Amino acid sequence: MPTKPHTLRRKLLTWLLLPLLALFFIRAGYTYFYANELANRVYDRMLFRLTVSLSQQIIYDSSNQHIELPQTATEILMTDELDVLYFAIRDAQGIIIDGDQRMPFIPTRRNQDGKFFFDDQIDGHKIRVSHFDLTIGHKRYLLQVAETLIKRSLLAREFQTGVLLPQALIIILATIIVWFGIGKSLAPLKRLQKAVSERSHIDLSPLHEKDVSAEVQPLVNSINDLMARLSEVLDAQNRFIADAAHQLRTPLAGLKTQIELALRQNDAAVTAQAMPSILVSADRMTRLVNQLLALARNEPKAERAIQMGVIDLGALASNITMEWVPQALEKDIDLGFEAPKSPVKIQGDAARIKDLIDNLIDNAVRYTDPHGQITVHVSNGDKPQLSVTDNGPGIPPEHRERVFERFYSVLGNTANGSGLGLAIVREIARMHGATTHIDSAADGTGTRISVVF
Ligand SMILES: Nc1ncnc2c1ncn2[C@@H]1O[C@H](COP(=O)(O)OP(=O)(O)OP(=O)(O)O)[C@@H](O)[C@H]1O
Ligand SMILES: [Mg+2]
Repeated sequence: MPTKPHTLRRKLLTWLLLPLLALFFIRAGYTYFYANELANRVYDRMLFRLTVSLSQQIIYDSSNQHIELPQTATEILMTDELDVLYFAIRDAQGIIIDGDQRMPFIPTRRNQDGKFFFDDQIDGHKIRVSHFDLTIGHKRYLLQVAETLIKRSLLAREFQTGVLLPQALIIILATIIVWFGIGKSLAPLKRLQKAVSERSHIDLSPLHEKDVSAEVQPLVNSINDLMARLSEVLDAQNRFIADAAHQLRTPLAGLKTQIELALRQNDAAVTAQAMPSILVSADRMTRLVNQLLALARNEPKAERAIQMGVIDLGALASNITMEWVPQALEKDIDLGFEAPKSPVKIQGDAARIKDLIDNLIDNAVRYTDPHGQITVHVSNGDKPQLSVTDNGPGIPPEHRERVFERFYSVLGNTANGSGLGLAIVREIARMHGATTHIDSAADGTGTRISVVF
């Protein structure tokens, strides 16, 4: 199943949004960690200050060497509207001698200031714990103060939304703006599509689409180019059909007159006498129709059916020349063939190359007077080359280009053809990348038509 092509809008949006979203998520990840870090930094400082303040409230009873934190001090200093606070005093052995027995165990690592923070839990609630070392009455103690994390997570969340929400809004806004922007930019393209689809198939005039962007203008130009070329081809085809119809009409009318005349004569002998010339007319028409078919076969558009292969031009031309010997003999023409001994290889379609050679030899045999001389010559100099030379009337230089046109014949020629042979030759040569030339034989008389591959 063919997949539906992506719309330009979707492609542009994807290319814009994917990097933006990727950036947003990287930013969100960074903000998440940074917000937690920031909240810890702010509240750790306050927690440590509280720990120091509490340490100053510790009372030491030197008589029984007992220390404690008075309830009044804890009540005043350890009230917080959001978090729950805990404290504990440990002796040098780490045993809790005052405060909350659930306080997590002494930390094993401390920094140089003696203050240290770490995360732990009390009754399943996450807490942050701060420490302070004390020396009272030559004994070492450790004061620990802990608090739950509500304030911290509130601050972190506020920071995250404060940073990320405007960014998310910008991305949404950018998407909406780009969505409409693309729609607006694509409007001329839509109009162009409408103009093309609503066109009649015979209207090949150029498109006049204004306000298309610079990127689309070349497309409009190419479409207009194509229209112009199509229009040329259609014109050429119409001309060709008109020419062909015209060419067929004249011999058909002649044939009809000949038959009518023969029938009117009511005499079997006279009718029989008319038959050969009727046959000649019919032959000429058959030739014309065959030439038309050959031309149609070798039209530029028919090139897809071409079957290229390696051909030995010498062998092919030699065989074709042999086929023409009987016709040459009828006119007592000496038909010769020259080629190098080694094969002359070309890339080509053998059937079409045969058409080409047939047409050249046909012209030579047809236009050369009886007892004349024709040579088919294959050579392999710079490039493979085939030429057909005759000592007939020759083609005057001013006609040498025009004889390649369709239906063009040099006036005054006794043998009338349909005027398509050399047009066919040129088409076949063109599709083989070969060039055609007309000049006269080495002695300046006759005709030499060469095809250089
Ligand atoms: N070898 C030649 N010698 C003299 N004139 C030639 C020769 N070959 C072609 N011509 C001239 O060129 C004209 C065009 O030749 P072309 O082969 O295209 O058409 P045609 O021979 O008239 O018709 P078709 O080949 O279609 O039957 C001919 O009418 C003829 O006047
Ligand atoms: Mg011809």
